Amino acid sequence: MQQQTTKDKRIFTHQQLGFISSKLLIGIVLGIIIWGGFNWSMEVANTESYCLSCHEMQGNSFDELQETVHYSNRTGVRASCPDCHVPKEWTHKVVQKISAAMRELPAHWNGKLDTEEKFEQHRLEMAMSEWKRMTKNGSKECKNCHDNQSMDFTKQEPRSSIQHEEAAKTGKSCIECHKGIAHHLPKGWKEAVKQLEMEKEK
Ligand code: HEC
Ligand code: HEC
Ligand code: HEC
Ligand code: HEC
Repeated sequence: MQQQTTKDKRIFTHQQLGFISSKLLIGIVLGIIIWGGFNWSMEVANTESYCLSCHEMQGNSFDELQETVHYSNRTGVRASCPDCHVPKEWTHKVVQKISAAMRELPAHWNGKLDTEEKFEQHRLEMAMSEWKRMTKNGSKECKNCHDNQSMDFTKQEPRSSIQHEEAAKTGKSCIECHKGIAHHLPKGWKEAVKQLEMEKEK
């Protein structure tokens, strides 16, 4: 009788346990494959060639970048599209990549930017969206390469160092003063920036 109850108390038999652990193993292996695949596709989708697969057709973004020091300079350190447009930290990156894909893929299929004219038409709206994003996150992407603390103000021209010391105090972010460092500025940008600043003060 005693024997019977102990047996009943066992939640799983040996056979069941074996079945469960083999399922668990398959689950873990599958998990690793899916996880790896997910991270791999994140990596692929974070390369300049991926960005250019769409953004080269419209010409502008890449051609314009090539005219700047962020593409070619004395020391050969260069910034690629994701360096400035995609956060480095994993969670932020995933959130931004997924939301970008949800917006950019349908817009691409609808041909939103498929000619230079269309690109120019939407340019101000796109630039504003980047300015807002970079203002909100304190221009994180810029700071991945340019460290406030490492900037030697004494080596900068006074017009830079005065502004930077001021910015360090007020917490102004890079993009608030440095617009159009990688691409041409859209028509009507000054008015748009004034509007952004007014919104920020509110
Ligand atoms: C499948 C095509 C496609 C790919 C790949 C792509 N983009 Fe885009 N991108 C678009 C389209 C279309 C828009 C316009 C979306 C809109 O405004 O609704 C856009 C807009 C943008 C904007 C404007 C900002 C904004 O919020 O609208 C930036 C910046 C940008 N892309 C950067 C990138 C970078 C960096 C990459 C690579 C990591 C990339 N894109 C990959 C199609 C693409
Ligand atoms: C991948 C690294 C990297 C990122 C990201 C980056 N920069 Fe730079 N930046 C550089 C390098 C390298 C130079 C050129 C240094 C030199 O003169 O050799 C430079 C130069 C500059 C200059 C001097 C421009 C000039 O015309 O002389 C400014 C201003 C600047 N960056 C602002 C920014 C801002 C604002 C961002 C964010 C939107 C940013 N950078 C993002 C690496 C980077
Ligand atoms: C309050 C406005 C302001 C802010 C905020 C600001 N800058 Fe500047 N910065 C300037 C001005 C003005 C200059 C000099 C004019 C120019 O070259 O554009 C300058 C020049 C520079 C230069 C060139 C320095 C040299 O001596 O060649 C770099 C690099 C730079 N800024 C990077 C940054 C980065 C990165 C940030 C954010 C951490 C930032 N700046 C924030 C106003 C600002
Ligand atoms: C050094 C930083 C930097 C790099 C590198 C960079 N961008 Fe940008 N990008 C910006 C900033 C800042 C803006 C916001 C508008 C402005 O200030 O010019 C912007 C705006 C854009 C826009 C909106 C339209 C526009 O012209 O304003 C698109 C699309 C874009 N970038 C795509 C790209 C692609 C594609 C690459 C790679 C070929 C790239 N960017 C490389 C900083 C960068």
